[in-house]
Amino acid sequence: MNRRQFLIASAASTSAFGTIAVTQTAPRPLPVIPITDLTGGINMRVPLTLAPGTHDFGNGAVSQTLGINHNYLGPVIRAKQGQTIPFDVTNNIGDVSTIHWHGLHIPGDVDGGPHQEIADGSVWSPDVPIVQHASMNWFHSHMHGKTAQQTYNGLAGVLLIEDDASLSADLPKTYGVDDFTLVLQDKIFNASGRMSYELTAEVFEDGFEGDTMVVNGAIAPVSQNVPTGLVRLRILNACNARFLELSMRTGTLTVIASDGGFLSSAVEAESILMSPGERYEVLVDMRNIDTNALQVNLGGGAGLFAGLFGGDQLTTVLTLARTADQGFTGAIPDQLANLAPPRATDATVTRSFELQMDVGADLVALAMAWENFCGNAGAMAINGQPMKMDRIDETVRKGDTEIWRISVDDQLHPFHIHGCSFRILSQSGAEPPAYAQGWKDMVHVEDGWSEVLVKFDHEAPPDAPYMYHCHILEHEDCGMMGQFTVT
Ligand code: C2O
Ligand code: CU
Ligand code: CU
Repeated sequence: MNRRQFLIASAASTSAFGTIAVTQTAPRPLPVIPITDLTGGINMRVPLTLAPGTHDFGNGAVSQTLGINHNYLGPVIRAKQGQTIPFDVTNNIGDVSTIHWHGLHIPGDVDGGPHQEIADGSVWSPDVPIVQHASMNWFHSHMHGKTAQQTYNGLAGVLLIEDDASLSADLPKTYGVDDFTLVLQDKIFNASGRMSYELTAEVFEDGFEGDTMVVNGAIAPVSQNVPTGLVRLRILNACNARFLELSMRTGTLTVIASDGGFLSSAVEAESILMSPGERYEVLVDMRNIDTNALQVNLGGGAGLFAGLFGGDQLTTVLTLARTADQGFTGAIPDQLANLAPPRATDATVTRSFELQMDVGADLVALAMAWENFCGNAGAMAINGQPMKMDRIDETVRKGDTEIWRISVDDQLHPFHIHGCSFRILSQSGAEPPAYAQGWKDMVHVEDGWSEVLVKFDHEAPPDAPYMYHCHILEHEDCGMMGQFTVT
């Protein structure tokens, strides 16, 4: 059997419940996403061109994709605190789109949300000021009703922010040598091996979950040679809906940063649970081990199958193989950032949000009229209202510290807020894990309340409001999103 036949055979052996096909193919190399490094200075506008492409994910089949300057996905852009990035975003995909800078603390009018549509064939030229600290951010389509399919097809990229502290920190930072950016996604490949995206009402309820992991556009497992020393992995969960429980084959994960920047000190974790939209940076110690691997649990984790198939199903995402070369010689630092514990008593306003899947038939027609896309599933809402482009749901005063309390009527949802980083006070009624106690823009919500402490420092006027939403992209498209101004 050649590799392609093997993949098809193993795909065919998946059960009707859609459990994961475990393929035993030899790992392909980790694609290192080309980097656009602006930290040395910016002397021209930075072009990002959205266009259709074709891409081989590594199974020999040609998939129809979308990309940003590339056939699939976008570049890794690296910029520095204090810079302003003059983007020229050209849309050539044959359909309207937007590009949102997820994680950036920027004013609403350059945020790239659903109100900043880029018509097919036109250019959007936001000047994006980078005022926040070192952090891993990303950009993706936010075209209301089409976010899920456009992002799945490839309209996503990574934006790394550095600052003086991160550039001088004693950490691995040679891109593609000891510092790797990993964009993790789950896909479905059809019988001819092409990437596919099909939505049924059932799929809509859980969001789209694929059966095959893809890393930087290549079907997992992938492998990478690394020098002897510490290796840094900057990880983005760019899945539409799948929570990823990540662990190392040997030893623990050493987590050094979350969505909005460095933790106060490194956190050792047996595993981390990453929702769609979340970012974590980890260090892997390759000083005394020949190989290690990053693995994802596709069995017992969160989601629909957790109850049906209790067992773990650890699948290798990335194998690291050590070479004799001497790499980063430093040790894991004791202190990473100066982070005071969040002070809930600073809050002067409390808002409550309930994420709703069971909103009743009366809202379905309204949701559709309001440009939500639910396929053949029912509508979704927050506080009884599906997303509506010309309705502002909340008005926030700039500079106020607030507590946002989020609850759900069913399932586990990842909640995201634009224009800020926040601190998690409680997550699903409990203290968040240590690795989630730093700066975040995503919080998990399952049972009980999740509470975040948040402050907005930039303006978002009524014609360019910020969004808050579930980051299961199908839920967002279907109306589990709201809008707020900051003035
Ligand atoms: Cu990553 Cu409103 O999105
Ligand atoms: Cu965002
Ligand atoms: Cu959701």
